[in-house]
Amino acid sequence: DERAAFIAGLPKAELHLHIEGSLEPELMFALAQRNAVAIPFASVEDVRAAYAFSNLQDFLDIYYQGMGVLIAEQDFYDLTAAYLARARADNVRHVEIFFDPQGHTARGVAFDTVIAGIARALDEARDRHGLTSRLILCFLRHLSEAEAEATLDAALPWLGRIAGVGLDSSEVGHPPSKFERVFARARDLGLKCVAHAGEEGPPAYVREALDLLRVDRIDHGNRSLEDAALVRRLTDAAMCLTVCPLSNVRLCVVDDIAAHPLRTMLDAGLCATVNSDDPAYFGGYVNANYQAVADALDLSRAELVALARNSFTGSFLDADGQARHL
Ligand code: HPA
Ligand code: ZN
Repeated sequence: DERAAFIAGLPKAELHLHIEGSLEPELMFALAQRNAVAIPFASVEDVRAAYAFSNLQDFLDIYYQGMGVLIAEQDFYDLTAAYLARARADNVRHVEIFFDPQGHTARGVAFDTVIAGIARALDEARDRHGLTSRLILCFLRHLSEAEAEATLDAALPWLGRIAGVGLDSSEVGHPPSKFERVFARARDLGLKCVAHAGEEGPPAYVREALDLLRVDRIDHGNRSLEDAALVRRLTDAAMCLTVCPLSNVRLCVVDDIAAHPLRTMLDAGLCATVNSDDPAYFGGYVNANYQAVADALDLSRAELVALARNSFTGSFLDADGQARHL
């Protein structure tokens, strides 16, 4: 329809995308075979049927299991190239990609193998299609800060390829304060800082991300809306929130898409963006996320334009890089 065509035509940036969450069941099966890794599914349909989550942890259990098929550099290249093809098809011009090295090093896959495969696909997309990108290394917050420090050590030879660090995995019980020192070191190394906060965790975790981790963006941030003073602080700072509508529905962060707070965020003056999070698990890439939330909330063209614009102004592109896309 008309709205779909309008969304498809908008140049967009994606700022919240876990590359391991773009592993489609078809590729999961192909890699399981190629690497002789056993997976507990008989078919692609079987896999999709398992994607019924009642919270974040339900999803994470299956997400860490799924990434077990990723072993060789070529696997990480294939995964990333497949995502970039989907992004390009959605008229995404710039991507800031999360990766979870600890989900791989824990299985004996070297940090260098992971990042080399991802980086090769990113370079190719830039050279062939002008698609620009940044990489964000995420620490798994259910693990210790010492393990995060060791991961940052492994990243040191790759600092030229890494724009920032993030914080993901099980939120409740693992507040930002747990990672204050490793984020301080990352910042001293010149890295940007982001953190998942206020997805399942309380507004206090968003405040900690701001005060203790000194983040440049908040990933999700939904529960900030429970705290009016925090909302004012986020708007005053023009802090970007990377919102993920279909993820919020699938992980039961919102009751249903019609109850999504995206318009409330925009009306409050928050710099909200629309992103896919883990598109292979949550039922859609960027345009599907724009479409679902625009249909449910009857978003106007001006609102859709504002969201797409926010995706560039909230990105880690410099002013020239943003201007090239806007
Ligand atoms: N939240 C926390 N951790 C994650 C997510 C998420 O939405 N996706 C992948 N890891
Ligand atoms: Zn996420």
